[in-house]
Amino acid sequence: MREASTDGKRLLKVLRREPVDRTPLWLMRQAGRYLPEYRAVRAEAGSFLDLCYTPDFAEEVTLQPIRRYGFDAAILFSDILVVPDALGQPVAFKEGEGPVLEPIRNAAELATLKPVSALRDKLAPVYETVRRLKNSLPAETALIGFAGAPWTVATYMVGGRGSPDQAMAKAWAYRAPDEFQKLIDLLVAATVEHLSAQVEAGAEVLQLFDTWAGSLPELSFERFALKPMIEIRAALKVRFPDLPVIGFPRGAGPMTVEYFRATGLDALSLDTGMSPVWARDNLQGAGCLQGNLDPLLLVAGGAEMQQQVLHILDTLGHGPFIFNLGHGIVPQTPPDHVAALVEIVREWRP
Ligand code: CP3
Repeated sequence: MREASTDGKRLLKVLRREPVDRTPLWLMRQAGRYLPEYRAVRAEAGSFLDLCYTPDFAEEVTLQPIRRYGFDAAILFSDILVVPDALGQPVAFKEGEGPVLEPIRNAAELATLKPVSALRDKLAPVYETVRRLKNSLPAETALIGFAGAPWTVATYMVGGRGSPDQAMAKAWAYRAPDEFQKLIDLLVAATVEHLSAQVEAGAEVLQLFDTWAGSLPELSFERFALKPMIEIRAALKVRFPDLPVIGFPRGAGPMTVEYFRATGLDALSLDTGMSPVWARDNLQGAGCLQGNLDPLLLVAGGAEMQQQVLHILDTLGHGPFIFNLGHGIVPQTPPDHVAALVEIVREWRP
């Protein structure tokens, strides 16, 4: 085995399947309401979208968890719903309610959206934030850009808000699949454009969040979750041949095997319910894995958290692996527990 050199960014190395001195670590939603310094900037910014669209604020909150914990990657502070917002379906984030949009439920409403060419203007402040971060991040910290996967973004566009069962988007997809496909196709093009602009501004890795992939039955999963991801991955490969891309098909279970193989993604982020042992045996041979501590174990902390962190590391840490959560940090997480987690992961050795 080759020696693990200490130069270069750990996260990028492990994505290229090169040896590293220790397991790289970052956390989904590592910037956010659990941090008092985030809540202060959030209050100053006013609305959540003002925070996303003001580079001074967005840069600052991206850097906050890096200063506190020295994670191996920073993820751009933004949201998956800036894409519909830029396409002319305004998004509002209501306190205690989450995102609210005027729903799009048929071809006529779909036709009112702006073309993909409208994205770069509207989202210029997001790309400016990426450019600034390139200069302000520590040399060893990788910068992750991101977008929502088309199906997941579509569930919010069609539902008009978050929903436990994605019923509105499913109703359209099942009643008129070829019409719904037009929304997915628009989102494939918009996602490639939005991600490309982030890479041009300096993002070194991309992650695609398919939070609701697991709610689709197999045939619909293939059409509306897998196929769009194959298209997005292929388009990015043409534009940026060496750029690593991570997928997060949350809840996809055994369909994850085909998802990893068919997309050619560089890494897969595992959700909380995925067995690390099964993932090691069925997925890790195809590439790097990332995950998958239950965010509620991070809330609990203590011996139970430690035991489950070590189970993940002992199982997956011998192959290409990035430590993360199985879903985003929740607001009630004590910041001290994050510090304890970081220490356990830093000290673990294969
Ligand atoms: O630190 C990071 O990970 C980067 C920033 C980031 C946010 N959202 C900030 C955010 C990322 C990567 C996301 C992704 C996102 N957004 C997803 C996919 C991943 C997942 O968590 O499933 C989804 C489905 C969304 C849509 C979204 N944004 C919802 C449903 C909500 C409301 C729920 C909530 O947690 O409040 C948001 C708001 C949001 N996005 C917040 C943050 C920090 C909280 C807003 C606030 O400060 O009031």
